[in-house]
Amino acid sequence: MSRLPQQGLVLAARGWRGAAVCKSCALRRFSIQPAQQKKIPNRYLGQPSPFTHPHLLKPGEVTPGLSQVEYALRRHKLMVLIQKEAQSVDGLDHTVILLSNPMYYMSNDIPYIFHQDTNFLYLCGFQEPDSILVLQSIPGKALPSHKSILFVPRRDPNRELWDGPRSGPDGAIALTGVDEAYPIEEFRHLVAKLKGESNMVWYDLRKPVHAELHSDYMQPLAEVKARSKNHIQAVRHLVQNLRLIKSPAEIERMKIAGRVTAEAFTETMFASKSPVDEAFLYAKFEFECRARGADILAYPPVVAGGNRSNTLHYVKNNQLIKDGELVLLDGGCEFSCYVSDITRTWPVNGRFTKPQAELYQAVLDIQKSCLSLCSPGMSLENIYSLMLSLIGQKLKDLGVLESSITDSHFFKAVRKYCPHHVGHYLGMDVHDTPDISRSLPFQPGMVITIEPGIYIPEDDARAPERFRGIGVRIEDDVVITEDAPLVLSADCPKDIYHIEQICGRSS
Ligand code: GLY
Ligand code: MN
Ligand code: MN
Repeated sequence: MSRLPQQGLVLAARGWRGAAVCKSCALRRFSIQPAQQKKIPNRYLGQPSPFTHPHLLKPGEVTPGLSQVEYALRRHKLMVLIQKEAQSVDGLDHTVILLSNPMYYMSNDIPYIFHQDTNFLYLCGFQEPDSILVLQSIPGKALPSHKSILFVPRRDPNRELWDGPRSGPDGAIALTGVDEAYPIEEFRHLVAKLKGESNMVWYDLRKPVHAELHSDYMQPLAEVKARSKNHIQAVRHLVQNLRLIKSPAEIERMKIAGRVTAEAFTETMFASKSPVDEAFLYAKFEFECRARGADILAYPPVVAGGNRSNTLHYVKNNQLIKDGELVLLDGGCEFSCYVSDITRTWPVNGRFTKPQAELYQAVLDIQKSCLSLCSPGMSLENIYSLMLSLIGQKLKDLGVLESSITDSHFFKAVRKYCPHHVGHYLGMDVHDTPDISRSLPFQPGMVITIEPGIYIPEDDARAPERFRGIGVRIEDDVVITEDAPLVLSADCPKDIYHIEQICGRSS
């Protein structure tokens, strides 16, 4: 025992007050060698580091543009929220547990590109699968004091031969700045200590992020805790509350994502001819995003020619777009953990027909009106109500809805032509912080999308024939500020004149 390094003692004996030390734990304690190294090792880690990727990360950054200090502040703020929620159960030890994503496989042994769980990523920036983040109150010290611990895959030359380097506990500490790190197998010793009644565990039992880690470690703990006074409490909503308001550094990342995507749209419009394959525009858009440094596309884009734009989640992107048809492209990219989500609709031959221009201009007018409302105090729900009214009015003006339609049928009819909401929160995920109500008043630092659309299917016998088969959506990404909204996708052409100029330009 005396030969254990100081931090090993902390893990073994401190923080799980009153819990008996099982024999296995006592033996296993000797294998716990928390890494002490704070300096970035001069070797490849499981993710870019300032040492291996100086073109991406500055010293002290965990992910591009986001420092260890920023990540530590996020963890601190989470513990402040937990302190507030825990007031009624004072005197307990508190342990927050977040699981990483697992690796998913396309077929035997062939992994998909790994994508980290965004709540886990938000709190530590660690990009490897099969890992666990623990934030733990320090006995004798009031919250929000805590220590942060990562449990990560141990280094393994056999696996690293196939999958590439792992950070290991030492690399995880040096890179992320957490207080301690251990091989993932050691997590079981911590779980054993969390069963006691003096321990409040903050963990999302519903929809576990990592099925295997959950069933190995957390489900058995949940069963024990269900019989204890101190049940397990959800934590996801608290993390979402933090993620809702973006920091200046986050907004800088989102500005880049918006600018890169706007440029990719411009290049894709420029390259569209008629006829053109949806697959070509898809590939062109992805190429232009990635050539500018995007990591991946943020979601499978919709590249829908003609009537297919009326299928909201059309992602087959494999049909020919004919001369005279519009294409609706809803695409975004992920740029160092933050995403964009932009939609533009344009004529592949470079010229809007008259009915296309009428419908397009109607959506554009509505979209600009909605954008002008993006200020503190408003909410997505407020703007949605206004959007429905504006769409209804435009549909009347265009002769799609009868001007005599009664109030009781009005909103139902409008929702038929625009079945989706005006927007959503945006951030590390496309549909970011999904449990936050859309009725919440905007505050500076929130990022949202504004994306009205009008969709008139070709078989809609009630609509004027000239509009049938046209679907238009225009979507921008917007930061709420004290002053005018900051449109992250402002460089992406959307006025008819600009679009026709770009699409009609010959190379
Ligand atoms: N691209 C998904 C959305 O706009 O919500
Ligand atoms: Mn969207
Ligand atoms: Mn979209």
